[in-house]
Parts: sequence; structure tokens; C-alpha cells
Amino acid sequence: MFIRNAWYVAAWSHEVTRRPMGRIYLNDPVVLYRTRDGAPVALADRCIHRRFPLHGGELIEDRLQCPYHGMEYAPSGECVRIPGGGAVPERLRVRCYPVEERYGWVWIWMGDPALADPAGIEDFHWLDDPQWGVKGTLYHAKCDYRLIIENLLDLTHLAYVHRTTIGNDAVADAARMTTEREDGRVVVTRWMIDTPPPPTYAKVGNFRGNIDRWQIIEYTPPAFIRLYVGGADTGTGAPEGNRVGGIGMRNLNAITPETERTTHYFWAQAHDFEPHNAELTETIFGQIEVAFNEDLAVFEAQQRNIELDPGAPRINLPTDAGGVHALRILDRLLAEEGAETPSETAPVPTPLGG
Ligand SMILES: [Fe+2]
Repeated sequence: MFIRNAWYVAAWSHEVTRRPMGRIYLNDPVVLYRTRDGAPVALADRCIHRRFPLHGGELIEDRLQCPYHGMEYAPSGECVRIPGGGAVPERLRVRCYPVEERYGWVWIWMGDPALADPAGIEDFHWLDDPQWGVKGTLYHAKCDYRLIIENLLDLTHLAYVHRTTIGNDAVADAARMTTEREDGRVVVTRWMIDTPPPPTYAKVGNFRGNIDRWQIIEYTPPAFIRLYVGGADTGTGAPEGNRVGGIGMRNLNAITPETERTTHYFWAQAHDFEPHNAELTETIFGQIEVAFNEDLAVFEAQQRNIELDPGAPRINLPTDAGGVHALRILDRLLAEEGAETPSETAPVPTPLGG
């Protein structure tokens, strides 16, 4: 169900502090905290003694103390103290997950630590690039993460779900769409030429009449979707580099499964026009927030129907090409990883006496 040998976003950097935080990823309970020098740490959130969650525990220097019986764990996951238990047996430990901090996010590797290469972290530089204004957040979505992938790769839904913000009829009726799949990534390109701006674009773009609007949607596995979207007065638009005027935005999505039916949905909206206008950043974020809350309700309703009858019919339309390719890539990677079948659990500890 989940690809484990991959980097996922675990948290916004500001969420990880000296106060341990528990969060589940791919069905694994994980506790996140920072050492005194600020380095993020991710350990299994399950004491080796009685499986109690560690995240309610105190930090003693850099050691995390289980709030149940006081066992202490080093940032490596090694148990270094058992109150009243005398010497700590060797190799008594909880699992330690590789973490990296980049672009204002803490990233976590849930698979084989030997394969965790930080070079594989996806590019989200717009989050901390001064050329862009940006604001983001985290949603808890009560759905299978794959529903979010499909949602972002088929933007015809804007015409129906997001009519008060980023949608209008042109998105469904006037878009010229191409879908490319290469090297395990999918790019969907949509152009809406000489069409009216949707409400959000009219509000922030000061357009005089119709616009050329673009949506370039890039998927990379397991679940990253970066959109380059924008609009310019008809006849002046270009998607890269030589655009004259108009507005360009990045909609950035890092989708981390929590369980089979719940998801940590990290997203942000960045804009390249007036990047230091904080009020504008808020306005744009607020518009996208309205739309994304509408999507959350859609996901939850879909999930409910799916669980009532997982075998209910489901068909694909031509506009689903991007989503179909993305889920095929996921399925292939899952099959490849399943063939390797690494052990997911930490070594079984030696029991302490009877
Ligand atoms: Fe949406």
C-alpha cells in the first residue's frame, strides 16, 4: 500500500521543537523532537517495554524519557537508561528514522535507512526563495492519499467545486490538455486561451479583459505535486521566462499517508508578482484555502462511499490521463518494493529476565 523507500514530508520545521510530537506515517507511530543543538530526531513512538507512546515524555538533555516507566532513549534510538533496571542490555532500542530539514520542512525516510540519500529530496525551493511570496499549511485529510493525487491531476473539477475562487466554465470546456509521462514522472499541461479570469485571478491580477491561463501540473512519486499556474492578458502570456506581466503562482503539495484512510496533506501557495506584499500573500492563500477546504469535503465524501463498497464501479475519462499515469507509477514502485520485502520492524530486543 505504501512506498517506504522514499522521502516524505513529516512536518513544518516550526512544528518540531523541544516538546516531543507524535505523528503517524505509513501506519508507523513516530515521535519527533529536536536535540539541544536544533537537529531534528525521529524515533518510533512506541516504548520497547510496554509499547507506550513516547511523545508525552520529557526530554532530559537530548534523551527522550518514556512517560510510563521512565526508560530513556538517545537520539539514535538506543535505550540508555532503565530506572531500577541496572545495566541496559546491548542493542535495546527503538527504531530511528533518517530525517533531513529542507525548505522549511522536516523530511523523513520510512524505509531502509541504508538507502536514504538526501539528494533524492524533491525540489520545493519556492518555500524559502525570496523571489516568491509564500504561505502554507497542513491539513489532516480523512481519505486515501491517492484521492488527492487524482484531484490535483484533473483540474476540470475547478469548474464545479471551486466556482467562487479559481474555477469557471473555461477550466472544463476550453482547456487544451496534454499529458506526458517520462522517467517516472507525469506532467499535465492545460491552456485556456482567451477566456475570462476566474474570481481569484480577477481579484489579484488586475486583468482588463480575457486572459490566457495555464496550469502545468507535475507529479513525482510517491505523492508530490507541484503546479505552475497563472494568467496574462490574452496574447501576452508565456509559461516560462519570457512572460510579460500577468500573474504566476506555484501550488505546492506534499502528500504523506498517515494510514490507508487518512493523510497528512502539506501544501503552500507561492506567487511571483509582488512577492514581498504580505497582504497579497494572505489574500492569495485565503482564496486557495477556500478551494482546498472544498476539496477536503470532496475527499471525505469519496472515502465514505469507497468504504461502503470498495468494489463499486469507477470509470476513467480522458481528463483522468494524468491521474491514471500517476497511479500506474505508484503501483509499479509498490510492486518493485514488495519484491524486495525489507523487514519493517526494529530488531526484537532481548527480554529482561522473566
Ligand atoms: Fe480542488
